[in-house]
Amino acid sequence: MALSSGLTPQGPGAVPTKPSKNDVSPGPIFTPSKHLAYSQPSKVWSLRDLGYPDNQGISPFGVSEPFRLFSDEAIDEMRRELFTNRKIWTDHRFSSKYAECQLRGYARDHAPFIYNAWKSPETLRIISNLTGMDVVPVFDYDIAHINVSGPSVPALSPLPADRVDKPAKETKTEKPRTEDENDAIVSWHNDSYAFVCVTMLSDCTGMVGGETALRTADGNVIKVRGPERGYAVVLQGRYIDHQALRALGGTERVSMVTAFRASSSEVRDDTNLKLVRPISNIDELYNEYAQYRFRILEDRFRGRRERADQSISIKAPFDVKETRAFIREQIEFLEQMEEQVMEEDDWKKIYNGS
Ligand SMILES: [Fe+2]
Repeated sequence: MALSSGLTPQGPGAVPTKPSKNDVSPGPIFTPSKHLAYSQPSKVWSLRDLGYPDNQGISPFGVSEPFRLFSDEAIDEMRRELFTNRKIWTDHRFSSKYAECQLRGYARDHAPFIYNAWKSPETLRIISNLTGMDVVPVFDYDIAHINVSGPSVPALSPLPADRVDKPAKETKTEKPRTEDENDAIVSWHNDSYAFVCVTMLSDCTGMVGGETALRTADGNVIKVRGPERGYAVVLQGRYIDHQALRALGGTERVSMVTAFRASSSEVRDDTNLKLVRPISNIDELYNEYAQYRFRILEDRFRGRRERADQSISIKAPFDVKETRAFIREQIEFLEQMEEQVMEEDDWKKIYNGS
């Protein structure tokens, strides 16, 4: 198949070209009938399959095996958007001890095809069917986080200090790493957001590894195969301890991670920004976090006020116990939020382990 102009070549020996221009020509509009190529995963693991109770998470869903999500044409266009827009690589690239190159918070302004792919009601229906509840992207900043790695990743210009997430001081004594940790890109962790969808944008021919390891309730580990090009894996990562295992071979590995939460304001929301603060524009991250969390409260309070209106008009009794429980829940919601919008000095201290 002929590659459209500006697309990064792929395959053995192919080297992703460093984005060289800023004037990105407009591409196709995301069209579900052409760009989605969904086929069901061979298996979906529920929380119960992993030994956890249903209420461990916000839905009974655990993790899916890889499933086809996007057509080749869609992946080509996503790559074109990413690899031809210099702005994404200059203003939205972050570096951390886990990954040298991550692209974040660029989609709304610089990658309309990618952005619309994740906002499309058809895409959301697929993810919602898998997770067993209606979901939406958590916020725009975490639409299509990109991890870029592999031997042929081009040498990149140094990043400004505020976009390099490195501990301020060297750790002198390091615990010997276990065999497990040697294979892992990121050690055991829970994600920031309820659900994540990891989509592969690279050709994985000749690649080994790249699985996601999940800890079951009884301490065993199961591994879910990593997705191929155009395939995705969905995980309720906020509530399941997991790690990404290293992938070897191949020339480049570009994966795309989009975070989801329940669309209903009634569902609990446990977003924890610890892992994303060091690799984000903090103003954008906090603003978008505050926006959706306050919207949840707005919805909940509007619902309660309307109920009060109704009760007054029909002279219904007031439910003290139930109202106090509602109030308590909102206090906890606000306390959780207060903890999340941490001052920079405080989260940096925690990050650096001091
Ligand atoms: Fe994760």
